[in-house]
Amino acid sequence: MKTGHDVAIIEVGPRDGLQNVAAFVETAQKVSLIRRLAASGLKEIQAGAFVSPRAIPQFRDMKEVVAGIIALPKVRFSALVPNLQGAREAVKSGIEKLIFFFSLSESHNLNNVRQTKEASLKGLEVIQKNLAAEAPVELCVALATVFGCPFEGYMTTDQILKDIEKIANMGIKEITLCDTVGFGNPRQVEEVTVACLKDFPEITFAVHFHNTRGLGLANALRAYDVGIRRFDAAVGGLGGCPFAPGASGNIATEDLVFMFNEMGIPTGIDMDSLLNVSSYLKEILPGVILSSAVYQAGLPKTQTSGPECGTPNGNPPFPAHQEW
Ligand code: COA
Ligand code: ZN
Repeated sequence: MKTGHDVAIIEVGPRDGLQNVAAFVETAQKVSLIRRLAASGLKEIQAGAFVSPRAIPQFRDMKEVVAGIIALPKVRFSALVPNLQGAREAVKSGIEKLIFFFSLSESHNLNNVRQTKEASLKGLEVIQKNLAAEAPVELCVALATVFGCPFEGYMTTDQILKDIEKIANMGIKEITLCDTVGFGNPRQVEEVTVACLKDFPEITFAVHFHNTRGLGLANALRAYDVGIRRFDAAVGGLGGCPFAPGASGNIATEDLVFMFNEMGIPTGIDMDSLLNVSSYLKEILPGVILSSAVYQAGLPKTQTSGPECGTPNGNPPFPAHQEW
């Protein structure tokens, strides 16, 4: 089933998930994880981050990881980059979509990338100017702590819109609004996303929710209801920023896919394959608890789990007739 209301789920487990895992995951295992994610139908995957290996040792093998996946067809691979050095390395490895990240809150930015917001914005400009001349890559922005900061608390919608305006003025066409530490609630998500969609119709907005306080899926659904169609999620519900105290997992890809599938909103992702990826994750990270509710509970016995929604008795999922 194809409708104009399909959603894009962006898998961030290999990046947001692994950056918070203490043990180094071997290159071959990272490659295998990403290949399995792609095989489950995910069309866009964050392969990792081209950051200082001193800041995040997990990504010291990015070049080798990308070499092992980049030839996979039908998948768009992106990577996080904090500066021109990372952007150049990413492009050299074959990554086509760069995600420059910085935080709405000054203190989280200083903690995370060790520079002011102003310096980050300059850095973004430098990447854009240099890379536009060097390679045909897409440059997007992930804006952290939009829905709250562990050091500064909540941001006002005005503050959020002002920063987005600065990014939009640089010609960036896609921005991910990140709830880095799970402060967001559905009402706030509605207010912020509605304002963003209204004020910046030329920008594609994605959302990135952490389920730190259990509101991840509620936030995602509210964002969907007001018109957002791009959602970050991490297999197993792994995730968290090592430079934000109290950060915990992203919304689990399994749970988000399950919610949309059950609502009759196609995701193109095969649940059985995805749950096999969760099992593989458990195998390579034996000490790590996977918070995905669907992984823990399994699928309802009466449901099929393929990319097309439906039940074994031929009945559509509830309520398939409704236009979302
Ligand atoms: N990739 C690899 N190495 C990098 C790099 C990059 N993108 N950027 C900087 N470095 C290296 C420099 O070459 C330098 O190495 P050297 O000491 O051997 O000469 C070293 O890191 C310090 O460089 P500097 O520019 O002074 O950076 P910094 O120490 O102020 O750190 C960041 C700034 C942004 C590079 C670093 O804090 C970082 O990578 N943070 C990642 C944060 C993150 O990923 N958070 C989770 C995502 S939300
Ligand atoms: Zn995150």
